[in-house]
Amino acid sequence: MSVARNLLLAASTNVWLREHAMKTWFVRRSVARFMPGERIEDALAAAIGLHSKGAHAILTHLGESTATRAESEQVTEHYLEVLERVSDAGLDAHVSIKPTQLGLNLDSALCHRNVQRLVDRAGELRTLLWIDMESSRYVDATLDLFRQMRARSPFVGVALQAYLFRTERDVESLLPLGAALRLVKGAYLESANVAYPSKQAVDQNYYRLASRILGEYLRQGALLHIATHDAVLIERLTRLIASVEIPSTAYEFAMLYGIRMPLQRRLVAEGRPLRVLVSYGSHWFPWYMRRLAERPANLWFVVKAALGM
Ligand code: FDA
Repeated sequence: MSVARNLLLAASTNVWLREHAMKTWFVRRSVARFMPGERIEDALAAAIGLHSKGAHAILTHLGESTATRAESEQVTEHYLEVLERVSDAGLDAHVSIKPTQLGLNLDSALCHRNVQRLVDRAGELRTLLWIDMESSRYVDATLDLFRQMRARSPFVGVALQAYLFRTERDVESLLPLGAALRLVKGAYLESANVAYPSKQAVDQNYYRLASRILGEYLRQGALLHIATHDAVLIERLTRLIASVEIPSTAYEFAMLYGIRMPLQRRLVAEGRPLRVLVSYGSHWFPWYMRRLAERPANLWFVVKAALGM
C-alpha cells in the first residue's frame, strides 16, 4: 500500500490535525464533494435525489469512539429519529452505524443496549440496520454484537473487510446465518500481521469472498452488499452474477456518495441494484481522511478549494 495512504490514515487519528483542519475553510469546502451537508435534512434530501435517479440510500451520521455514555445515548436517540424520518418519508433507505459511536469503546453492554434499541425499531419499520466494521481490534466485539442482534432480528447486517486474513474464516462462520453481509476492502491502517499488504492480494481475496457468499446466497435468498468502486471487480462479479443467474434480490452494489459517479450512473442504467452510502454530520475529519487515503489524488480537491478553483 502507498506511503501517502499510510500517512493519511495516520493523520485520521491525529487530534491536533483534526481540530485545526476542521476549522480551515478550504478543507471544509473540499469535504462537500463527498457529503451533501452536516444535517439529517441534507442526507434525506440526498436520499430523495438518489431515489429519483433509480438508486437507494444508506444513511450514516458521522462519528466514532464516543467519549461518554451520554454521548452514545444521544447518538442512539438521533438514529431512532432517523429511522422514523425515513419511514415517514416513505423512503427505501437503510441506516448504518459504527459500534464505537454507540459506546463499544466504553462498555460493550452499553453498546449492545443502544444497538438493540435500533435493531428493534428498524425491524418494526422493516428497514435494514447495518453495523460498520471498524479497525481490527474491534472485529471480535463487533461480530459478537452482530450475532446477538441477528438472533433477535433479520433486519441487521454487518460489514466484513477483505483486507483482513481472518475474514475468510468469519465468512464461513456467518454464512449459515443467511444474514445481510456487506463486503468492503477495508479502510483502516492495519499491520501486515493481520491484513494483506498489497492491493492485488486484497482484490483477489475480495473476489474470492464475494463469489463464495454469492454462491451460498443464491440458495438462501440472503443479501450481499458488494461495496466497492473497483470497476474491474464489479465487472468480474457482474459476469459471475449473470453466469450463475443470481437473482437481483441476493445482492446490491454499494458505493459512497460522490465517488465514481459515472460508474454509479452506468450500473443504474444497466438495471443493477445500487445503494449509496450518504454520510452527514459534523464529525467528518477521520472519515474524510480515510476517503483521501483511498485515493490520494483527492488531495487535489483540497488544493483546488484552497486556490478557489
Ligand atoms: P479501491 O480503493 O481499489 O478503489 C477502486 C477505484 O475507486 C479507485 O481506482 C478509485 O478510482 C476509486 N475510489 C475509491 N475510493 C475513492 C475515493 N475515496 N475517492 C475517489 N475515488 C475513489 N470500510 C471499512 O473498513 N468498514 C466499513 O464498514 C465500510 N463501509 C463501507 C460501505 C460502503 C457502501 C462502501 C462503498 C465502502 C465502505 N468502506 C468501509 C470503505 C472501503 O473499505 C474502502 O476503503 C473504499 O470503498 C475504497 O475501496 P474500493 O473497494 O472502492 O477499492
